[in-house]
Amino acid sequence: EWSMEAYRHAKIADIRAQVGSGKVICGLSGGVDSAVAAVLIHEAIGEQLTCVFVDHGLMRSAEAEQVVSLFRNSYNIPLIHVEAEELFLGGLAGVSDPEAKRKFIGKTFIDVFEAEANKIGGAAFLAQGTLYPDVIESVSFVGGPSVTIKSHHNVGGLPERMNMALVEPLRELFKDEVRELGRELGLPEAFVGRHPFPGPGLAIRIPGEITKERCDILRKADAIYLEEIRNAGLYDAIWQAFAVLLPVRTVGVMGDARTYDSVCALRAVTSVDGMTADVYPFSAEFLSRVATRIVNEVAGINRVVYDYTSKPPGTIEWE
Ligand code: XMP
Repeated sequence: EWSMEAYRHAKIADIRAQVGSGKVICGLSGGVDSAVAAVLIHEAIGEQLTCVFVDHGLMRSAEAEQVVSLFRNSYNIPLIHVEAEELFLGGLAGVSDPEAKRKFIGKTFIDVFEAEANKIGGAAFLAQGTLYPDVIESVSFVGGPSVTIKSHHNVGGLPERMNMALVEPLRELFKDEVRELGRELGLPEAFVGRHPFPGPGLAIRIPGEITKERCDILRKADAIYLEEIRNAGLYDAIWQAFAVLLPVRTVGVMGDARTYDSVCALRAVTSVDGMTADVYPFSAEFLSRVATRIVNEVAGINRVVYDYTSKPPGTIEWE
């Protein structure tokens, strides 16, 4: 009979069989999936696992500290924290094509993982929290539709020359099942209930060219939006909510001065698995409160719009 407890034990056996006495590096993204994968693999192989958290400078505000403290304080899992903002933002300068962003970020993650693997004397395996929907949306099936919607870097965007084998214990699971597995493994509810956050982070929420300044502007707007969502008690009713910083400037008026600044789009959707999604129907009062706060508190944004597109035909992210 199928149960999450049985799944946990079966996967632990699989992981042991796959890696033997080899070393495994696990990339933590800050999200639920990679955290669950890491805890499961740690249970299977203990000290053979080293987790690497790469701060690419494209995190939301406070995201990095939360993951690092969860792993260092609640679990005794060795964690290497790599500061790589300059490496990532430097390489992304001048890049505006969404797939080019993903490819660069995926490749650079692997470069960093390989460098860290060498420092610990080599690792034969790289673990990732790839889920079933990532596999479906990234792979062109033989005989099936040959479109790649988005090359999630933890599936399609990996460089071919990579010399570590992949360990992906969540590959058959949907998000709700990963959360259940996380609970089974004892992860705190506040962590398990987190909204998904994409590996390329804010890079795909800043259409066009990415700069540190634009990341900082977006982080401020996004933090205000999420704070209001939490204060209104809506966080758990929403699959994913985030701000997007558009490469469009519009005219506004502040006091008696003319402004010419960026537009911020707000996105919030409900979903079961991320494959389809509906727009979250906020009240007009809620949206006006958030818009007013963002325009008043975030220099560089003078207009806020709400994205009313379901998936399909839209995708959840803007890139
Ligand atoms: P879309 O935008 O394809 O998003 O409707 C579906 C879900 O996948 C997440 N997403 C990504 N996750 N790397 C990731 O790890 C990516 O490149 C990526 N693109 C989208 C998105 O946040 C949503 O949860």
